[in-house]
Amino acid sequence: MAEFPKLRLRRLRKSNLRKIFREVRLGPENLIVPVFVDENLKERKPIESMPGYFRLPVDDAVREVEGCLDLGLESFILFGVPSHKDEFGTSAHDRDGVIQRTVRKIKAEFPDAVVITDVCLCEYTTHGHCGVVSGEEILNDDTLPILGRIAVSHAEAGADIVAPSGMMDGMVGAIRKALDSAGFETVPIMSYAAKYASGFYSPFREAAESGYRFGDRKGYQMDIHNAREALREIELDIKEGADVIMVKPALPYLDIIRMAKDRFNVPLAAYNVSGEYSMIKAAIEKGWLNGDVIYEILVAIKRAGADLIITYHAKEMAEKLQ
Ligand code: PBG
Repeated sequence: MAEFPKLRLRRLRKSNLRKIFREVRLGPENLIVPVFVDENLKERKPIESMPGYFRLPVDDAVREVEGCLDLGLESFILFGVPSHKDEFGTSAHDRDGVIQRTVRKIKAEFPDAVVITDVCLCEYTTHGHCGVVSGEEILNDDTLPILGRIAVSHAEAGADIVAPSGMMDGMVGAIRKALDSAGFETVPIMSYAAKYASGFYSPFREAAESGYRFGDRKGYQMDIHNAREALREIELDIKEGADVIMVKPALPYLDIIRMAKDRFNVPLAAYNVSGEYSMIKAAIEKGWLNGDVIYEILVAIKRAGADLIITYHAKEMAEKLQ
C-alpha cells in the first residue's frame, strides 16, 4: 500500500473534486416535516421552546404543506392538539377529529403529498400518557384496540403511512390487524421501534400539549443505557409487520441508527427531536454556533444510516439546499 508522499488524501479534497466523492447526499426528499395542528386555534401560535416553530389551525397546516412542497419537501408527519381530551383519548379516533380533518384537506388539495400520522394517545388523554391508565399504571393490552381504531380512522381519512409512537408491546401487530380487517392492507406502518425515554422531548410536550400529569414514560419508552434491547424492539416490530422502522432521538443515538442499519434490511427513519432542534436554535440565536451546523447534523444522521430524517429543520434546510 502506498504511503506518504506517494499517497496524499488531500488530492481528492480540492474544491471542485470534493463534491463528486461525497459518500452520502442530503436532499429535501430525505426529510420529513413535523406539523402541529391545533383545532383550538384561529391563527398560528409560536411554540416558545421551539424558536421559529408554530402550532397551526387546520387551514394553515394545509398552506404550510403547500409551502413545503414548493421547496421540494414531500413528506409530513402530523401531530394533533384536540379541543377535547378524556381519560381514553377518544378524540384521537373521532372521524372528524383534528388529524382526520387535516389529512382529508391536505390529500384533497395535494394528493401526491406523503402524509404520515402519529398514532398515539398522549395528546388526547387528560393524563397525558401514551396508553390508558388504571391508577398510575399504564395498561398495555387495553391500549392496543384503541391504537388500532386510531390508525384505521387515519387511513380512512387518507393517511399514506401511520406511525405508532406509544411504545406499547404488540402495537404494530394490533395496528396491522386492524388496518387489514378494515381493508387497508396497503397502508404501511412506520414504527417508532426504538424510542428512548429521553430528556430531549420536553419542547415537544409544549408543542403538542402532551405533558403527563403523573409519573414518567420510563415504564414504556426504552432505557437510555440499552443498545441490544433496541435491536430486540426493532426485530419484534418487523415481525409484527412494520414496513419502516425508526430510531428516536437521533443525535445522541447515532450508534443505534448504525446498528439498526447494519442489521436490518428495512427502511430506517431517525427522529431529530424537539430538544435537538431547540438547543441548536438557541446556540445559533446567541451567536455561539453558525447555522451551517444544521446541515452537518443532518448529514451525520444520514451517514449513520438513516434513510429518512424527521426534523424541525426541514424547511430551513430545504431552503438552503435550493
Ligand atoms: C408522542 C410523541 C412524542 C414525540 C413524538 N411523539 C413525545 C413523547 O414521547 O413524550 C417527541 C417528538 C419530539 O420531541 O420532537 N408519543
